[in-house]
Amino acid sequence: MTGQMKRDIIILTDPGQDQAAAILMILGAADAFNVKGIVATAGNIDLSFTVNNCLKLLELAERTDIPVYAGSPRPIVRELVTAEHVHGPTGLDGVELREPKTQPAPESGVAFIIDTIRQADAGEITICSLSPLTNLALALVQAPDIAPKIGGIVAMAGAYFEVGNITPTAEFNVYVDPEAADIVLNSGIPITFLPLDVTHQMLSTPERLDTMRAVENHCGPALADMLTYSERFDLNKYGWEGAPLHGPCVPAFMLEPDIFSGRQINVSVERHGQLTLGMTVADWWQITDRPKNVFYVRNGDAERYYQLLLDCLRRLP
Ligand code: RIB
Repeated sequence: MTGQMKRDIIILTDPGQDQAAAILMILGAADAFNVKGIVATAGNIDLSFTVNNCLKLLELAERTDIPVYAGSPRPIVRELVTAEHVHGPTGLDGVELREPKTQPAPESGVAFIIDTIRQADAGEITICSLSPLTNLALALVQAPDIAPKIGGIVAMAGAYFEVGNITPTAEFNVYVDPEAADIVLNSGIPITFLPLDVTHQMLSTPERLDTMRAVENHCGPALADMLTYSERFDLNKYGWEGAPLHGPCVPAFMLEPDIFSGRQINVSVERHGQLTLGMTVADWWQITDRPKNVFYVRNGDAERYYQLLLDCLRRLP
């Protein structure tokens, strides 16, 4: 990780244990990422919990210098769909993190995105999206001038070959706010998707969780406890040797893109289907002449991925 130019990023997140892993990975890679702020999204659980969870994680990692902003309390059009059945009632069940002493910043998450992009040089800031895309989409609608200034979007979003997780056809982050995903996909901003097609290759096996738990600080064991809680649902559902670890694929791609492989293709989102609402239709074989708007990651090296995650975790308090 050393020697890379430090990347200014904005994190969009609705933690969720797997996203806690992503946030801690980013904080551990402090030589590679300059976090301008975190925008809490309504998603896995209600906004009040996701704001609180962001504050808790920053206190756990002793990085309360990073501001947290509250995003929209619901998707752009639809009612909020949450995932307590996976993440528990607080979204970070599995470990007892003390109630935060810090508060979110007073500015709204959408205004923060707009103001930060406007004040930055063109291309300077990358959006790291771990959550539904509601707040980025709202920022793009309210301030279309920011689109050409955003350096890129790297998002855990979508599914095609692995099909859906919240419905038979849709991945959760896109399903929660398909209208937001559509706005982002048509923004003209360079986009990379880390979909279920690759995150399902990144399995937190017992050996990998044991190694995480053995990290000699408090972030590593705490994360192992969180993931041990959230893995129950996926182990029961999929019967795999470990639960897929979605969120850290975003920072991992930015840190070591050669861990992954993919293709520049069109990705469009279904917004009207009775059975396919929120489905990301990936034109992998380039059958249509739709614009190739997404670098769609399909494969990754799990051993290198977990080694990178652990290297980052070991740098934390
Ligand atoms: O579909 C997987 C993603 O949706 C994960 O990031 C999980 O936290 C949920 O947000």
